[in-house]
Amino acid sequence: MNTALQVQNLTVRYGGFTALDHINLSLQEHTTLGLVGESGSGKSTLARVIAGLIAPDEGQILLGAQQLVKKRSREQHKKIQMIFQNPDASLNPKHSIRQILSEALLFHNIVNRSEVEKRCKELLDRVHLEAKALDKYPHEFSGGQRQRIAIARALSVEPSLLIADEPTSALDVSVQLSVLELFNTLKAELNLTMLFISHDLGVIHAISDTVAVMRQGKLVESSPKDQFFTRPEAAYSRELLSAVPKMPITRSAGGFYEPRT
Ligand SMILES: Nc1ncnc2c1ncn2[C@@H]1O[C@H](COP(=O)(O)OP(=O)(O)O)[C@@H](O)[C@H]1O
Ligand SMILES: [Mg+2]
Repeated sequence: MNTALQVQNLTVRYGGFTALDHINLSLQEHTTLGLVGESGSGKSTLARVIAGLIAPDEGQILLGAQQLVKKRSREQHKKIQMIFQNPDASLNPKHSIRQILSEALLFHNIVNRSEVEKRCKELLDRVHLEAKALDKYPHEFSGGQRQRIAIARALSVEPSLLIADEPTSALDVSVQLSVLELFNTLKAELNLTMLFISHDLGVIHAISDTVAVMRQGKLVESSPKDQFFTRPEAAYSRELLSAVPKMPITRSAGGFYEPRT
């Protein structure tokens, strides 16, 4: 298995405050790393620095064998796509779904102009939306549907790394599970490499191959999923796990996670 992403000694400070403190992390191709930690632990900062939205104060990021520098090329930007908690962050409300999807396809030369319409329909089909959605605008969809459109947009440019930052946290409880199941389906169908962030251990259990835990800007554990949920290394991980009641998770991930007593 090849390493898709390596983060070495990564440090980010906001003024005098250290939000990321010398983080080391690696992610294998075609696997999903679930990043968990309480609010304010630095998860979104890590996502943003990997995606190139902010620059690190120290350390480096390697995508495959390539080091990502501060000023990234268009090709490098294309390779890492991000899905945010709020889908509206990546959907221009004045653009139709056709415009939203075709813009990214054309900007990055993914397909010829003559093939754009067909590809847009395929993308919608992937996220279980009908082709007639193309003529509509973001406000005509529910929150869950808008998140599906944001997922389609992120996938449109065929990224080598998808970062999803709490992608289900802002959705109605009733649709959270269906969006999570969509991620699991896409993961299998498209062999995705994903950094999936959540503060919810049930979600992390459902989606991850490896689990990493952050606390106050530091990475306190990175373990294979089964090991994390049965024999966590860090005392803080045990604390997190013991605080959670029995959690319903997706069927595809195998039923319920029940903490040990
Ligand atoms: N732009 C910013 N300026 C100053 N402090 C920030 C900024 N963004 C985040 N922080 C702080 O950095 C810490 C980590 O934030 P964040 O990465 O958003 O954590 P998480 O996603 O785990 O909730 C928090 O204490 C937050 O208040
Ligand atoms: Mg966050």
